[in-house]
Amino acid sequence: MASKFQAPRGTFDVLPAAGRARARLQAVATGIFERAGYEMIQTPTFEDTDLFERGVGKSTDIVRKEMFTFEDKGERSLTLRPEGTAPICRAYLEHGMHKQAQPVKLSYVGPFFRHERPQAGRYRQFHQLGIEAIGTDSPLADAEVIMLLSDLLGELGVPGVALRLGSLGSLDARAAYLEELKAHLHRHEGDLTADVRERIDINPLRAFDSDDAGVQGVMASAPTILDALSAEDQEHFDEVRALLDAAGIGYELDGTLVRGIDYYTRTIFSFVCDALGGQSEIGGGGRYDGLIEQLGGPATPAVGWAAGIERILLALDEEEPRRGRDAFVAIADPEQRRRAMALVTELRNAGFSAEMDLAGRGLKGQLKHADRIGAARVLILEAGGTAQLRDMASGEQRAADTGNLLGEMTGGEA
Ligand code: HAM
Repeated sequence: MASKFQAPRGTFDVLPAAGRARARLQAVATGIFERAGYEMIQTPTFEDTDLFERGVGKSTDIVRKEMFTFEDKGERSLTLRPEGTAPICRAYLEHGMHKQAQPVKLSYVGPFFRHERPQAGRYRQFHQLGIEAIGTDSPLADAEVIMLLSDLLGELGVPGVALRLGSLGSLDARAAYLEELKAHLHRHEGDLTADVRERIDINPLRAFDSDDAGVQGVMASAPTILDALSAEDQEHFDEVRALLDAAGIGYELDGTLVRGIDYYTRTIFSFVCDALGGQSEIGGGGRYDGLIEQLGGPATPAVGWAAGIERILLALDEEEPRRGRDAFVAIADPEQRRRAMALVTELRNAGFSAEMDLAGRGLKGQLKHADRIGAARVLILEAGGTAQLRDMASGEQRAADTGNLLGEMTGGEA
Protein backbone atom coordinates (compact mmCIF):
# COMPACT_ATOMS: atom_id res chain seq x y z
CA MET A 1 0.00 0.00 0.00
CA ALA A 2 2.99 2.33 -0.39
CA SER A 3 2.13 5.65 -1.97
CA LYS A 4 4.63 7.75 -3.92
CA PHE A 5 5.11 9.90 -0.82
CA GLN A 6 7.82 9.20 1.72
CA ALA A 7 9.11 11.03 4.78
CA PRO A 8 11.73 13.57 3.54
CA ARG A 9 15.38 12.48 3.48
CA GLY A 10 16.94 12.52 6.92
CA THR A 11 13.56 12.49 8.70
CA PHE A 12 11.57 9.59 10.11
CA ASP A 13 8.18 8.63 11.46
CA VAL A 14 7.90 7.59 15.08
CA LEU A 15 5.51 4.64 15.09
CA PRO A 16 3.78 3.50 18.29
CA ALA A 17 6.35 0.81 19.19
CA ALA A 18 9.16 3.39 19.07
CA GLY A 19 6.90 5.99 20.66
CA ARG A 20 6.61 3.92 23.83
CA ALA A 21 10.39 3.95 24.34
CA ARG A 22 10.39 7.72 23.78
CA ALA A 23 7.61 8.22 26.29
CA ARG A 24 9.58 6.29 28.92
CA LEU A 25 12.72 8.32 28.19
CA GLN A 26 10.83 11.59 28.52
CA ALA A 27 9.12 10.49 31.72
CA VAL A 28 12.49 9.61 33.31
CA ALA A 29 13.99 12.93 32.14
CA THR A 30 11.03 14.96 33.35
CA GLY A 31 11.29 13.33 36.78
CA ILE A 32 15.00 14.16 37.04
CA PHE A 33 14.54 17.75 35.83
CA GLU A 34 11.60 18.39 38.16
CA ARG A 35 13.32 16.98 41.22
CA ALA A 36 16.28 19.29 40.54
CA GLY A 37 14.07 22.35 39.89
CA TYR A 38 14.59 22.75 36.12
CA GLU A 39 11.28 24.03 34.79
CA MET A 40 9.95 23.48 31.30
CA ILE A 41 10.36 26.16 28.64
CA GLN A 42 9.15 26.01 25.05
CA THR A 43 10.34 28.34 22.32
CA PRO A 44 9.18 28.49 18.68
CA THR A 45 10.39 26.02 16.10
CA PHE A 46 11.73 28.87 13.97
CA GLU A 47 13.50 32.10 14.86
CA ASP A 48 15.09 35.06 13.09
CA THR A 49 18.10 33.76 11.16
CA ASP A 50 20.24 36.47 12.73
CA LEU A 51 19.78 34.92 16.21
CA PHE A 52 21.65 31.77 15.14
CA GLU A 53 24.25 33.64 13.07
CA ARG A 54 25.16 35.68 16.12
CA GLY A 55 24.56 33.03 18.75
CA VAL A 56 25.95 29.87 17.20
CA GLY A 57 28.69 31.66 15.22
CA LYS A 58 29.21 32.46 11.53
CA SER A 59 32.26 30.23 11.18
CA THR A 60 30.51 27.07 12.43
CA ASP A 61 29.39 24.27 10.10
CA ILE A 62 25.89 24.72 11.50
CA VAL A 63 25.57 28.30 10.27
CA ARG A 64 27.69 27.89 7.13
CA LYS A 65 26.07 24.76 5.76
CA GLU A 66 23.36 23.21 7.85
CA MET A 67 20.55 25.65 8.50
CA PHE A 68 17.10 25.34 6.97
CA THR A 69 16.63 29.02 6.19
CA PHE A 70 13.66 30.50 4.35
CA GLU A 71 11.99 33.82 3.69
CA ASP A 72 8.46 34.38 4.94
CA LYS A 73 5.84 36.35 3.04
CA GLY A 74 7.06 39.54 4.70
CA GLU A 75 10.57 38.88 3.33
CA ARG A 76 12.01 38.19 6.78
CA SER A 77 14.73 35.58 6.95
CA LEU A 78 13.73 32.77 9.32
CA THR A 79 15.52 29.56 10.26
CA LEU A 80 14.26 26.25 11.66
CA ARG A 81 16.11 26.07 14.96
CA PRO A 82 19.32 24.01 14.72
CA GLU A 83 19.80 24.17 18.51
CA GLY A 84 18.01 25.41 21.62
CA THR A 85 20.42 27.49 23.68
CA ALA A 86 20.38 30.72 21.63
CA PRO A 87 16.53 30.73 21.52
CA ILE A 88 16.34 30.18 25.28
CA CYS A 89 18.76 33.06 25.90
CA ARG A 90 16.63 35.18 23.56
CA ALA A 91 13.55 34.28 25.63
CA TYR A 92 15.44 34.94 28.90
CA LEU A 93 16.12 38.51 27.73
CA GLU A 94 12.76 39.07 26.07
CA HIS A 95 10.87 38.15 29.25
CA GLY A 96 13.18 39.93 31.68
CA MET A 97 14.12 36.71 33.45
CA HIS A 98 17.32 38.39 34.67
CA LYS A 99 15.04 40.11 37.22
CA GLN A 100 14.07 36.75 38.75
CA ALA A 101 16.13 34.94 41.38
CA GLN A 102 19.24 33.59 39.66
CA PRO A 103 20.07 31.17 38.28
CA VAL A 104 16.98 30.57 36.18
CA LYS A 105 16.91 26.81 35.66
CA LEU A 106 15.13 25.63 32.53
CA SER A 107 14.53 22.34 30.72
CA TYR A 108 13.30 21.62 27.22
CA VAL A 109 12.53 18.93 24.71
CA GLY A 110 11.61 19.17 21.06
CA PRO A 111 12.57 18.92 17.41
CA PHE A 112 15.69 20.53 15.92
CA PHE A 113 16.83 20.78 12.31
CA ARG A 114 20.23 20.52 10.64
CA HIS A 115 20.89 19.86 6.98
CA GLU A 116 23.54 17.18 7.57
CA ARG A 117 24.34 14.04 5.58
CA PRO A 118 21.93 11.48 7.07
CA GLN A 119 23.30 8.30 8.64
CA ALA A 120 22.52 6.19 11.71
CA GLY A 121 22.23 8.64 14.61
CA ARG A 122 22.37 11.70 12.35
CA TYR A 123 19.17 13.15 10.97
CA ARG A 124 17.89 16.40 9.47
CA GLN A 125 15.05 16.56 11.96
CA PHE A 126 16.08 15.16 15.32
CA HIS A 127 15.02 15.66 18.92
CA GLN A 128 16.94 16.99 21.86
CA LEU A 129 16.23 17.28 25.51
CA GLY A 130 18.32 19.61 27.58
CA ILE A 131 18.72 21.96 30.50
CA GLU A 132 20.19 25.41 31.02
CA ALA A 133 21.16 27.14 34.29
CA ILE A 134 21.33 30.85 33.45
CA GLY A 135 22.70 33.59 35.69
CA THR A 136 25.50 31.98 37.70
CA ASP A 137 29.20 31.40 37.15
CA SER A 138 29.48 29.04 40.12
CA PRO A 139 31.31 25.76 39.40
CA LEU A 140 28.48 24.17 41.39
CA ALA A 141 26.18 24.82 38.43
CA ASP A 142 28.64 23.17 36.00
CA ALA A 143 28.84 20.14 38.27
CA GLU A 144 25.08 20.02 38.81
CA VAL A 145 24.19 19.99 35.12
CA ILE A 146 26.83 17.37 34.35
CA MET A 147 25.57 15.22 37.21
CA LEU A 148 22.00 15.45 35.94
CA LEU A 149 22.97 14.16 32.49
CA SER A 150 25.00 11.42 34.13
CA ASP A 151 21.97 10.52 36.29
CA LEU A 152 19.66 10.49 33.27
CA LEU A 153 21.87 8.13 31.26
CA GLY A 154 22.37 5.99 34.37
CA GLU A 155 18.68 5.76 35.22
CA LEU A 156 17.83 4.86 31.62
CA GLY A 157 20.53 2.19 31.64
CA VAL A 158 22.53 3.46 28.64
CA PRO A 159 25.55 1.12 28.41
CA GLY A 160 29.20 2.04 27.79
CA VAL A 161 28.97 5.76 28.52
CA ALA A 162 32.12 7.85 29.05
CA LEU A 163 32.41 11.51 29.99
CA ARG A 164 35.03 13.75 28.40
CA LEU A 165 35.75 16.99 30.15
CA GLY A 166 37.71 20.06 29.09
CA SER A 167 37.89 23.79 29.53
CA LEU A 168 38.16 26.46 26.87
CA GLY A 169 39.02 29.21 29.34
CA SER A 170 37.42 32.61 29.27
CA LEU A 171 37.40 34.62 26.06
CA ASP A 172 40.50 36.78 26.76
CA ALA A 173 42.74 33.90 27.75
CA ARG A 174 41.48 31.92 24.80
CA ALA A 175 42.42 34.65 22.34
CA ALA A 176 46.10 34.38 23.33
CA TYR A 177 45.96 30.58 23.08
CA LEU A 178 44.32 30.69 19.64
CA GLU A 179 47.20 32.83 18.33
CA GLU A 180 49.62 30.21 19.57
CA LEU A 181 47.57 27.44 17.94
CA LYS A 182 47.32 29.31 14.64
CA ALA A 183 51.11 29.77 14.61
CA HIS A 184 51.54 26.02 15.16
CA LEU A 185 49.14 25.23 12.29
CA HIS A 186 50.84 27.70 9.94
CA ARG A 187 54.20 26.08 10.73
CA HIS A 188 52.77 22.72 9.58
CA GLU A 189 50.55 23.91 6.73
CA GLY A 190 52.06 21.34 4.35
CA ASP A 191 50.63 18.45 6.40
CA LEU A 192 47.09 19.84 6.65
CA THR A 193 44.06 19.12 4.49
CA ALA A 194 42.72 22.00 2.39
CA ASP A 195 39.66 22.29 4.61
CA VAL A 196 41.70 22.70 7.79
CA ARG A 197 44.19 25.01 6.08
CA GLU A 198 41.44 27.32 4.87
CA ARG A 199 40.07 27.63 8.38
CA ILE A 200 43.32 28.21 10.29
CA ASP A 201 42.50 31.84 10.90
CA ILE A 202 38.73 31.46 11.22
CA ASN A 203 38.34 28.41 13.45
CA PRO A 204 41.67 26.74 14.30
CA LEU A 205 40.17 24.61 17.12
CA ARG A 206 38.26 22.52 14.60
CA ALA A 207 41.57 21.00 13.49
CA PHE A 208 41.40 18.87 16.67
CA ASP A 209 38.24 17.30 15.24
CA SER A 210 39.77 16.16 11.94
CA ASP A 211 39.90 12.45 11.15
CA ASP A 212 42.74 12.92 8.64
CA ALA A 213 45.92 11.12 9.78
CA GLY A 214 48.21 13.97 8.65
CA VAL A 215 46.20 16.56 10.56
CA GLN A 216 46.06 14.30 13.60
CA GLY A 217 49.85 14.05 13.53
CA VAL A 218 50.14 17.84 13.53
CA MET A 219 47.61 18.13 16.35
CA ALA A 220 49.40 15.58 18.52
CA SER A 221 52.16 18.12 19.10
CA ALA A 222 49.86 21.18 19.18
CA PRO A 223 49.61 23.24 22.37
CA THR A 224 46.35 22.55 24.21
CA ILE A 225 44.12 25.09 25.88
CA LEU A 226 44.40 23.26 29.21
CA ASP A 227 48.04 24.38 29.42
CA ALA A 228 47.06 27.96 28.68
CA LEU A 229 44.26 28.61 31.18
CA SER A 230 44.39 31.81 33.26
CA ALA A 231 44.70 31.39 37.01
CA GLU A 232 40.99 32.16 37.48
CA ASP A 233 39.88 29.76 34.79
CA GLN A 234 42.17 27.09 36.21
CA GLU A 235 40.69 27.56 39.67
CA HIS A 236 37.15 27.36 38.29
CA PHE A 237 37.98 24.20 36.38
CA ASP A 238 39.71 22.61 39.37
CA GLU A 239 36.60 23.21 41.46
CA VAL A 240 34.32 21.63 38.83
CA ARG A 241 36.62 18.60 38.81
CA ALA A 242 36.70 18.40 42.60
CA LEU A 243 32.89 18.49 42.73
CA LEU A 244 32.61 15.70 40.14
CA ASP A 245 35.22 13.68 42.02
CA ALA A 246 33.29 14.14 45.26
CA ALA A 247 30.10 12.97 43.52
CA GLY A 248 31.89 9.87 42.21
CA ILE A 249 31.50 10.84 38.55
CA GLY A 250 34.38 9.54 36.47
CA TYR A 251 35.68 11.50 33.48
CA GLU A 252 38.53 11.67 31.07
CA LEU A 253 40.33 14.98 30.93
CA ASP A 254 40.54 16.01 27.29
CA GLY A 255 42.55 19.06 26.24
CA THR A 256 41.60 18.53 22.60
CA LEU A 257 37.84 18.51 23.16
CA VAL A 258 36.08 20.96 20.85
CA ARG A 259 32.45 21.60 20.14
CA GLY A 260 30.71 22.64 16.95
CA ILE A 261 29.26 25.85 18.38
CA ASP A 262 31.16 29.11 19.07
CA TYR A 263 29.49 30.30 22.28
CA TYR A 264 31.37 28.07 24.73
CA THR A 265 33.69 29.40 27.43
CA ARG A 266 35.37 27.58 30.31
CA THR A 267 33.87 24.10 31.02
CA ILE A 268 32.90 21.91 28.05
CA PHE A 269 31.89 18.26 28.19
CA SER A 270 30.73 15.42 26.04
CA PHE A 271 29.07 12.13 26.95
CA VAL A 272 30.01 9.49 24.40
CA CYS A 273 28.75 5.94 23.99
CA ASP A 274 30.96 3.37 22.26
CA ALA A 275 27.92 1.39 21.05
CA LEU A 276 27.03 4.26 18.73
CA GLY A 277 29.94 4.02 16.27
CA GLY A 278 30.40 7.09 14.05
CA GLN A 279 28.00 9.45 15.79
CA SER A 280 29.18 8.56 19.27
CA GLU A 281 28.19 11.71 21.15
CA ILE A 282 25.01 11.13 23.04
CA GLY A 283 24.89 14.55 24.68
CA GLY A 284 27.09 17.46 25.55
CA GLY A 285 27.36 21.11 26.37
CA GLY A 286 29.21 23.50 28.57
CA ARG A 287 29.41 27.01 29.87
CA TYR A 288 28.51 29.96 27.64
CA ASP A 289 29.30 33.04 29.69
CA GLY A 290 29.40 35.42 26.70
CA LEU A 291 26.28 34.40 24.77
CA ILE A 292 23.66 36.60 26.41
CA GLU A 293 25.87 39.66 26.05
CA GLN A 294 26.48 38.68 22.44
CA LEU A 295 22.69 38.79 21.95
CA GLY A 296 22.52 42.32 23.36
CA GLY A 297 21.85 41.58 27.04
CA PRO A 298 23.86 42.19 30.20
CA ALA A 299 26.88 39.98 30.93
CA THR A 300 25.22 36.77 32.21
CA PRO A 301 27.13 33.55 32.83
CA ALA A 302 25.31 30.27 32.07
CA VAL A 303 25.84 26.56 31.59
CA GLY A 304 23.82 23.69 30.11
CA TRP A 305 23.65 20.71 27.77
CA ALA A 306 21.50 18.93 25.25
CA ALA A 307 21.25 15.21 24.50
CA GLY A 308 20.01 13.58 21.32
CA ILE A 309 16.90 11.51 21.96
CA GLU A 310 17.45 9.31 18.90
CA ARG A 311 21.05 8.62 19.95
CA ILE A 312 19.98 7.62 23.47
CA LEU A 313 17.36 5.27 22.00
CA LEU A 314 19.87 3.79 19.54
CA ALA A 315 22.29 3.14 22.40
CA LEU A 316 19.55 1.51 24.47
CA ASP A 317 18.34 -0.56 21.52
CA GLU A 318 15.34 -1.79 23.49
CA GLU A 319 11.71 -1.95 22.65
CA GLU A 320 9.35 -0.95 25.38
CA PRO A 321 6.73 -3.74 25.56
CA ARG A 322 3.17 -2.67 24.96
CA ARG A 323 1.23 -2.60 28.18
CA GLY A 324 -1.90 -4.77 28.33
CA ARG A 325 -5.38 -3.46 29.19
CA ASP A 326 -7.19 -3.93 32.47
CA ALA A 327 -10.43 -4.68 30.68
CA PHE A 328 -12.20 -5.17 27.39
CA VAL A 329 -15.96 -4.73 27.22
CA ALA A 330 -17.40 -7.18 24.70
CA ILE A 331 -20.87 -6.94 23.17
CA ALA A 332 -22.65 -10.31 22.75
CA ASP A 333 -25.86 -8.58 21.71
CA PRO A 334 -25.86 -5.44 19.47
CA GLU A 335 -28.57 -3.89 21.70
CA GLN A 336 -25.91 -3.55 24.42
CA ARG A 337 -23.73 -1.11 22.49
CA ARG A 338 -24.71 2.04 24.39
CA ARG A 339 -24.39 0.28 27.73
CA ALA A 340 -20.92 -0.92 26.68
CA MET A 341 -19.85 2.62 25.90
CA ALA A 342 -21.12 3.82 29.30
CA LEU A 343 -19.31 1.01 31.14
CA VAL A 344 -16.01 1.57 29.27
CA THR A 345 -16.24 5.23 30.25
CA GLU A 346 -16.97 4.33 33.88
CA LEU A 347 -13.91 2.08 33.96
CA ARG A 348 -11.65 4.71 32.35
CA ASN A 349 -12.87 7.40 34.74
CA ALA A 350 -12.02 5.09 37.65
CA GLY A 351 -8.45 4.79 36.34
CA PHE A 352 -8.61 1.42 34.57
CA SER A 353 -7.39 1.01 30.99
CA ALA A 354 -10.37 -0.26 29.02
CA GLU A 355 -11.35 -0.70 25.40
CA MET A 356 -14.35 -1.92 23.45
CA ASP A 357 -14.86 -3.09 19.90
CA LEU A 358 -15.08 -0.26 17.37
CA ALA A 359 -15.06 -2.43 14.27
CA GLY A 360 -18.32 -4.44 14.41
CA ARG A 361 -16.70 -7.82 15.22
CA GLY A 362 -18.77 -10.80 16.33
CA LEU A 363 -18.28 -12.07 19.93
CA LYS A 364 -15.61 -14.59 18.89
CA GLY A 365 -13.71 -11.88 17.03
CA GLN A 366 -13.98 -9.56 20.03
CA LEU A 367 -12.52 -12.18 22.38
CA LYS A 368 -9.66 -12.75 19.96
CA HIS A 369 -9.04 -9.03 19.78
CA ALA A 370 -9.17 -8.72 23.59
CA ASP A 371 -6.50 -11.41 23.78
CA ARG A 372 -4.38 -9.65 21.13
CA ILE A 373 -4.32 -6.38 23.07
CA GLY A 374 -3.52 -8.17 26.33
CA ALA A 375 -6.78 -7.51 28.19
CA ALA A 376 -6.68 -9.04 31.68
CA ARG A 377 -10.48 -9.37 31.87
CA VAL A 378 -13.34 -9.28 29.42
CA LEU A 379 -16.77 -8.13 30.46
CA ILE A 380 -19.30 -9.73 28.11
CA LEU A 381 -22.63 -7.88 27.88
CA GLU A 382 -25.45 -10.27 27.05
CA ALA A 383 -28.99 -9.83 25.75
CA GLY A 384 -31.42 -8.86 28.49
CA GLY A 385 -28.82 -7.00 30.53
CA THR A 386 -26.91 -9.87 32.16
CA ALA A 387 -23.11 -9.98 32.00
CA GLN A 388 -20.19 -12.38 32.36
CA LEU A 389 -16.70 -11.52 33.55
CA ARG A 390 -13.97 -13.64 32.01
CA ASP A 391 -10.44 -13.85 33.38
CA MET A 392 -8.28 -14.16 30.27
CA ALA A 393 -5.31 -15.83 31.97
CA SER A 394 -7.30 -18.66 33.62
CA GLY A 395 -10.22 -18.74 31.20
CA GLU A 396 -12.59 -18.72 34.19
CA GLN A 397 -15.90 -17.02 33.63
CA ARG A 398 -18.64 -16.04 36.07
CA ALA A 399 -21.81 -13.94 36.18
CA ALA A 400 -21.06 -10.31 36.97
CA ASP A 401 -23.09 -7.42 38.34
CA THR A 402 -22.54 -4.40 36.09
CA GLY A 403 -24.21 -2.23 38.76
CA ASN A 404 -21.09 -2.92 40.85
CA LEU A 405 -18.57 -2.83 38.05
CA LEU A 406 -15.67 -1.39 40.01
CA GLY A 407 -16.19 -3.96 42.78
CA GLU A 408 -16.22 -6.72 40.16
CA MET A 409 -12.93 -5.41 38.74
CA THR A 410 -11.22 -5.44 42.12
CA GLY A 411 -12.29 -8.95 43.03
CA GLY A 412 -16.03 -8.95 43.45
CA GLU A 413 -16.38 -6.89 46.62
CA ALA A 414 -18.50 -3.76 46.68
P1 HAM B 1 25.16 19.89 20.09
O1 HAM B 1 26.38 19.18 20.54
O2 HAM B 1 25.21 20.54 18.78
O3 HAM B 1 24.83 20.94 21.24
O4 HAM B 1 23.93 18.90 20.11
C1 HAM B 1 23.59 18.19 21.28
C2 HAM B 1 23.24 16.76 20.97
O5 HAM B 1 22.23 16.69 19.97
C3 HAM B 1 24.39 15.95 20.40
O6 HAM B 1 25.21 15.45 21.43
C4 HAM B 1 23.65 14.83 19.68
O7 HAM B 1 23.31 13.79 20.60
C5 HAM B 1 22.38 15.49 19.22
N1 HAM B 1 22.46 15.83 17.77
C6 HAM B 1 23.08 16.88 17.20
N2 HAM B 1 22.94 16.87 15.86
C7 HAM B 1 22.19 15.77 15.58
C8 HAM B 1 21.68 15.19 14.35
N3 HAM B 1 21.88 15.76 13.16
N4 HAM B 1 20.96 14.05 14.45
C9 HAM B 1 20.73 13.47 15.65
N5 HAM B 1 21.17 13.98 16.82
C10 HAM B 1 21.89 15.10 16.79
C11 HAM B 1 23.80 21.81 21.23
O8 HAM B 1 22.88 21.75 20.46
C12 HAM B 1 23.85 22.79 22.37
N6 HAM B 1 22.68 23.66 22.30
C13 HAM B 1 23.95 22.07 23.70
C14 HAM B 1 24.02 23.01 24.87
C15 HAM B 1 23.02 23.38 25.68
N7 HAM B 1 25.10 23.67 25.25
C16 HAM B 1 24.79 24.42 26.30
N8 HAM B 1 23.53 24.26 26.56
